[in-house]
Amino acid sequence: MAEARPAGARIGSAQTAFGQTLRRDAWWLELAPVILLLGGFGVYATLRAFEGSYYEWGPYLSPFYSPLIDVHHRWWPWSPALLILAGPLGFRITCYYYRKAYYRAFFLDPPACAVSESGKRQYRGETRFPFILQNLHRYFLYLAAVFLGFLWHDAFHAFFFEGHLGVGVGSLVLLVNILNESHMLYAWISLISVGFADFYVRMLASGAIRDVRLL
Ligand code: FES
Repeated sequence: MAEARPAGARIGSAQTAFGQTLRRDAWWLELAPVILLLGGFGVYATLRAFEGSYYEWGPYLSPFYSPLIDVHHRWWPWSPALLILAGPLGFRITCYYYRKAYYRAFFLDPPACAVSESGKRQYRGETRFPFILQNLHRYFLYLAAVFLGFLWHDAFHAFFFEGHLGVGVGSLVLLVNILNESHMLYAWISLISVGFADFYVRMLASGAIRDVRLL
């Protein structure tokens, strides 16, 4: 298929310098929260996935570790989170909204609408390796539906304390975490909530805080 450029897209062509634009607004301001939030989440999630501990407290299970597989390390000596990471990670990384966010914020390709990207690279869209793999998003969506089932199970389980019905702050944290699956705003909300749900369980499991029992 022929490579298409939007009308009037001289900016962004090989002749323009990086960052060249006719825009007069502070377009770069959009990048800062993405770098902070997405970058921060990436670092935190990576550290947590490799940590391999503090993922369970009472009836609460961190979403980073759900479903929990080979918890006793019979055949998998490393963190159980690494066994399931590819599912949720692949789903988020191939999501159209996140793609737009990290292409702009981390690859600066382009840094914003109507702002020139760098160098003499030719735009190839997502037609070549490795970006052609982004087309796997629909299959990751099916996989995400399976993970969602596990998260619902975990949220339900979080309301039972030693066999008795109860509500802790953690029960609500895990419940709220599974209610957000959508774009833009919800993409951010779900990113923050899944990180917070893991952080909350980690704080409880390490003894840093105590769960507040509501009922
Ligand atoms: S495009 Fe499918 S979850 Fe974002």
